[in-house]
Amino acid sequence: MAGPLPIADPAPSDGLLPQQASEAAAERSFHAYVHIPFCRVRCGYCDFNTYTATELEGASQSDFAATLIREIELSSKILEESGLPKRAMKSVFFGGGTPTQLPAADLIGILTRLIDAFGLDDGAEITTEANPDNVGVDYLTTLKAGGFTRISFGMQSAVPSVLKTLERTHNPEKLPLVVGAAKTAGLETSVDLIYGAPGETLEDWRVSLEAAIALEPDHISAYSLIVEDGTKLARQIKSGLLPEPDEDLQADKYELADGLLKSAGFDWYEVSNWARRSELLDNRSAHNISYWQSQDWWGYGPGAHSHIGGVRWWNVKHPSAYSGKLATDFSPAAGRETLDERTRLEERILLEIRLASGLSTDLAKSVNPDAAKHIAGFIADGLVDAAEAIRGNLILTLKGRLLADSLVRKLLA
Ligand SMILES: C[S@@+](CC[C@H](N)C(=O)[O-])C[C@H]1O[C@@H](n2cnc3c(N)ncnc32)[C@H](O)[C@@H]1O
Ligand code: SF4
Repeated sequence: MAGPLPIADPAPSDGLLPQQASEAAAERSFHAYVHIPFCRVRCGYCDFNTYTATELEGASQSDFAATLIREIELSSKILEESGLPKRAMKSVFFGGGTPTQLPAADLIGILTRLIDAFGLDDGAEITTEANPDNVGVDYLTTLKAGGFTRISFGMQSAVPSVLKTLERTHNPEKLPLVVGAAKTAGLETSVDLIYGAPGETLEDWRVSLEAAIALEPDHISAYSLIVEDGTKLARQIKSGLLPEPDEDLQADKYELADGLLKSAGFDWYEVSNWARRSELLDNRSAHNISYWQSQDWWGYGPGAHSHIGGVRWWNVKHPSAYSGKLATDFSPAAGRETLDERTRLEERILLEIRLASGLSTDLAKSVNPDAAKHIAGFIADGLVDAAEAIRGNLILTLKGRLLADSLVRKLLA
């Protein structure tokens, strides 16, 4: 049986954290996520917390950096008053929405204030997401000079008809230009791909993978298209205007991705993420790894989620509600939950099984008395590496990665 639901608390208006947040904090690393909730247009498949100019209801893009800096000041006070030790940030990630909708100076202003408040670890990773449509050489050079180390482009596909179905605004020719400019600026590069757009063939997907590899980025994410309720894409599928993604074809596409990426020198390190890695080099995203290893992060901005020591909270979603709270020095947190020990262990199972570093069999057994029986089944079915499993670590095989969710369901049943 799955464990109890997290204990839900109202988020207090002063944002102070319960004692659990500070327990063993020195053993966890600290990271910052900054949510920039603006896009020029909304892609038909996307349900991220993002707003186009007509949806802003009075909220101002030009005041956004100053508003977000108020949350940074508040967070520094809250962490200190809640008894958390001061920890330098190991990574900062600007996501969205489209962070590059803001002037580079705004992103650098936010980063600088974060560094003033918390300090930065040597070699910290500072990433921004970007839409290939709205960055140029000057912008990227300014970001690099302002402390950014890495950029992640929403490429999605290299096939014009697929980009059209996804309602992307860029064309495939844009990618070599912006990735090249980012490299010239001295930034590490990553591209996001999506597979499974209605009408996308296996051959289309091969074209996109080969185009992504030809860009020679340091990192590639490949996400299976999720048809999110309430999106335009969901409506188009429901009304029969577009076909539903086919599960078998999706599995073929995952296998093709893994094969081509592996031959090109990219190793998977999480089910949807591949990076170049050697003794001298590690292009895995330190920020994403911090999420999957349940470290501590403060999520700044509208709708952003935070996690400190098993205490999770999330901000009000709309930028105008967010700035309204901060203008009166109230915490922008809308809700909060404090996870009990069992729920924290279950979350670790859910996240760590997706990692190439693996999930400890002891952890699985501590949550489920039938885990040993399930693990024997996984080995027999070729879903986990047998030798590693015997040594106490569950590492998914390619077949296992395709069925990761069902393995988790069994381990948590
Ligand atoms: C915030 S966007 C990246 C930056 C920029 N907004 C862009 O799209 O170019 C984050 C990534 O999430 C992925 N994504 C968004 N919605 C998705 C969905 N419904 N299914 C799968 N991937 C999705 C896309 O690959 C996208 O690049
Ligand atoms: S995928 Fe990116 S550009 Fe498209 S709506 Fe979502 S956040 Fe905006």
